Amino acid sequence: MTGAVEITPYQAGYRADVLHIAADSAFFGEPVEAFLEDRRLFCDASIGYYADFEAEYLWLALEDTRLVGYLAGCVDTPAQRRRYLTRSIAPLIGRVLLGRYRLGEKTWRTARSMFAGLLRSELAHVNYDEYPAHLHVNVAVDSRGKGIGKRLIETYLRQLRELQVPGVFLGTTNLNKAACRLYEKIGFTLLDAKITSIWNSFVDGDVENRSYVLRLMNP
Ligand SMILES: CC(C)(COP(=O)(O)OP(=O)(O)OC[C@H]1O[C@@H](n2cnc3c(N)ncnc32)[C@H](O)[C@@H]1OP(=O)(O)O)[C@@H](O)C(=O)NCCC(=O)NCCS
Repeated sequence: MTGAVEITPYQAGYRADVLHIAADSAFFGEPVEAFLEDRRLFCDASIGYYADFEAEYLWLALEDTRLVGYLAGCVDTPAQRRRYLTRSIAPLIGRVLLGRYRLGEKTWRTARSMFAGLLRSELAHVNYDEYPAHLHVNVAVDSRGKGIGKRLIETYLRQLRELQVPGVFLGTTNLNKAACRLYEKIGFTLLDAKITSIWNSFVDGDVENRSYVLRLMNP
């Protein structure tokens, strides 16, 4: 049965469903298994942080009681980066050393590529003073194209404006075509783009890392 979709604040009972949609969308909208053997590693290194430590900026799209999409955000990215390292990455490294994840050839290839990409500074630039908040948005594959992503972003932007946050950014790639169209339609502008080689062994052709920004208050 399908019903109306409601956008609601995060409820902890949906944590596993949020992680599920995140992992199912991680590879340019496709499942994470394209580049990692163990989706728990991906979730612990990404969306798990937002569910556990930034829950006030996590929004859910519920169709009846089924989770069909989410938006994860935060209002202070520099502080979030520090918390993320201590609260998510440090324990994650411990679990890797204890052998808690399945680490196969794909995972090591991804880790090598990401490390090399970091050394080459392939991330698109953002000025956090102007754009301190950020967001990640994903919709379940069978619910895409129905206006849910747009409603999630509009809800979060209202929250940011109420909090008087001056600006918001997000990172994506040229391969996330629907996402780029959606951001541009909402009013985000492309701030920076950098070719990255980290996906070279997983997709044909170059991938472009992109940062999109939106000013929320007049300077
Ligand atoms: C990107 C995503 C969150 C958009 O959510 P959505 O609910 O599917 O998008 P909406 O239905 O709200 O679409 C809003 C606008 O986005 C654009 N859009 C959405 N789907 C599109 C598609 N398949 N192709 C082109 N444009 C698309 C359109 O401009 C659309 O407006 P319109 O229908 O009035 O023309 C969703 O498609 C998704 O999860 N994709 C895979 C994961 C991903 O790329 N996440 C973002 C990572 S940065």
